[in-house]
Amino acid sequence: MRLGVLGVGDLTEKMIRGLYRSERDIHVWLAPRNRERADALAKDFGCRVMASNQDVVDAVDVVLIGVRPAQLEELAAEVVLRPEQSLISVVAGVSTRELRTLFRSERCSRAMLSAASEINRPTVAVYPAGSMAEDLLAPFGNLVVLDQEDHFELATVGACMNGWWYFLFDEIEQWFVSKGLAEEQARELALSSVEDCVAYARHKKPVELRDVDVSIATPSTFTAKGLDVLKEHGGQAAWTNACEAVFELLNKKA
Ligand SMILES: NC(=O)c1ccc[n+]([C@@H]2O[C@H](COP(=O)([O-])OP(=O)(O)OC[C@H]3O[C@@H](n4cnc5c(N)ncnc54)[C@H](OP(=O)(O)O)[C@@H]3O)[C@@H](O)[C@H]2O)c1
Repeated sequence: MRLGVLGVGDLTEKMIRGLYRSERDIHVWLAPRNRERADALAKDFGCRVMASNQDVVDAVDVVLIGVRPAQLEELAAEVVLRPEQSLISVVAGVSTRELRTLFRSERCSRAMLSAASEINRPTVAVYPAGSMAEDLLAPFGNLVVLDQEDHFELATVGACMNGWWYFLFDEIEQWFVSKGLAEEQARELALSSVEDCVAYARHKKPVELRDVDVSIATPSTFTAKGLDVLKEHGGQAAWTNACEAVFELLNKKA
């Protein structure tokens, strides 16, 4: 596949690194802006850096859009896609309807990924089913195909939450360190604990997560005591509130 990237930024660089790592038969053409990043990708993987955005579009089958939402209109004015060309957008909060209007293209799909794209382990939400986003990214991570676009916005909230986890892990690691643990051990305790939760929760399917919780935090255990403190301080509600706030912002935009 010949893939063109318009918006060579933090996320698309990680995606490109991950795609090459996945050893798929894929060749990447890059927009010239942010030249240093594009040149590094050219050096590492042989991506071609073109003189203009339109040159990228003209060279490829599929166009990946990775600019920030406020930069989208300017970008759309710079390019004309061919009717058979597919466009995949990773731009948060911009609907396929808006993409179709801006890029005068019918074949638009969306994907939402996390930083783990760089190592081929991201959560990959795509909309709609059967689109080029699904084709390209299905082998790339844990795929979640959304059949309603408002559900895709929920996946965007999930992508933000993915960023919040790192702050939580960091806080936990720092707490261990403040109590005298070496950084390496502290990091391992923080991260490994999360890894084993995820593995066990997957293993227990179809048991409801609620039932797994209850079976672990049984009354009068230290776990239950800590959970009471978390609830008392709004620790859990704070996450739901943050999700609601981001979801509201996304919906306001749409
Ligand atoms: N980063 C993430 O983990 C993440 C996760 C999920 C979704 N997203 C979505 O991904 C998109 C990109 O985010 P990011 O963090 O990767 O942003 P970023 O690092 O700022 O990347 C955007 C890139 O697009 C370039 N650009 C802007 N206008 C352009 C144009 N007209 N033609 C060609 N290139 C242009 C920018 O160049 P300049 O620097 O010169 O402006 C920059 O290199 C956003 O819409 C965001 O919602 C990001």
